Amino acid sequence: MNNPKIANVGSNWVLNPNHTIDAIEEEFDLSAPAYEQSSFDWDYRGADDGAAFFARLVSPHSRVVDAGCGSGLVGQRLGELGFGDLTGCDISSAMLALAREKNIYSGGLYKTDIQALPLEANGYGALVCIAVFSAYTGINLKGNAMPLAIVFTDNDIMPSIWSEDTDEILLQRLNRIVFAPELIDVNSAREWLALLPEPSGWFATTQEAANYTARLKQEKRATAEDVTQAREKLGLSRADFAEAIGIGGNSNTRHKTIYDIEKGKFLLSSGASRSLRAVLTARELE
Ligand SMILES: C[S@@+](CC[C@H](N)C(=O)[O-])C[C@H]1O[C@@H](n2cnc3c(N)ncnc32)[C@H](O)[C@@H]1O
Repeated sequence: MNNPKIANVGSNWVLNPNHTIDAIEEEFDLSAPAYEQSSFDWDYRGADDGAAFFARLVSPHSRVVDAGCGSGLVGQRLGELGFGDLTGCDISSAMLALAREKNIYSGGLYKTDIQALPLEANGYGALVCIAVFSAYTGINLKGNAMPLAIVFTDNDIMPSIWSEDTDEILLQRLNRIVFAPELIDVNSAREWLALLPEPSGWFATTQEAANYTARLKQEKRATAEDVTQAREKLGLSRADFAEAIGIGGNSNTRHKTIYDIEKGKFLLSSGASRSLRAVLTARELE
């Protein structure tokens, strides 16, 4: 992505979201003939990486709507990943014509504004929407008193945030994640989410999720005194204590790291400070 042109991709839409749907249609009708060549020249990764990310969360047996499908790059990649039931929607006829040539949208291709999808209610399992720069204003989660799940795995760059009207619907949705175990009720979902890396979790309201993430941002680092106290409380040698809070290296290195921290040479990292609090809490809960 060294090409400086990449910085301009979509900036027309992202920085200036108040375009009319007619302007979007015109822009993409005009740019359609050059769209795929430009994507290639600019090393556009959105369709491939976005589809691969989506495939980790959604079963390939789902009926999928590709909203803002454009020339079909996302659908093409999803097809390669085993998705067979794809429906595409886009406002630009010229982009849709390119998608049609690919012969991958078995559910059909619709010319429509995706802000008012004229699709059958409850007829689809998932919706993918990648690099669709338009007048879309986004979902306002603020003040939302509905259950919300944050799903974040070790491999993720961005957490998935899902809010649904009821616990049951959110549970069903989590059960469709390919790497999730069978989640029989809200408690099992809570327990599973709690095992994923932070900030994963199940929250009754958006505010609860916001409070949780706000707390995570407070990166309080343990002082020399905190470390000595915690180590003594746990009754561990310096090397074992270091290992318990996730500090690597051989026994001598681990010993020396904790020794230096206890002498005030440097502070424990925020990650290790968090592990320290977790180890102390786990001990209390035993
Ligand atoms: C940059 S292209 C991305 C296409 C495809 N998702 C991809 O990743 O290659 C954006 C597409 O979104 C479509 N689009 C933008 N806003 C839209 C809207 N409100 N309704 C329908 N299509 C829209 C445009 O016509 C265009 O084809």
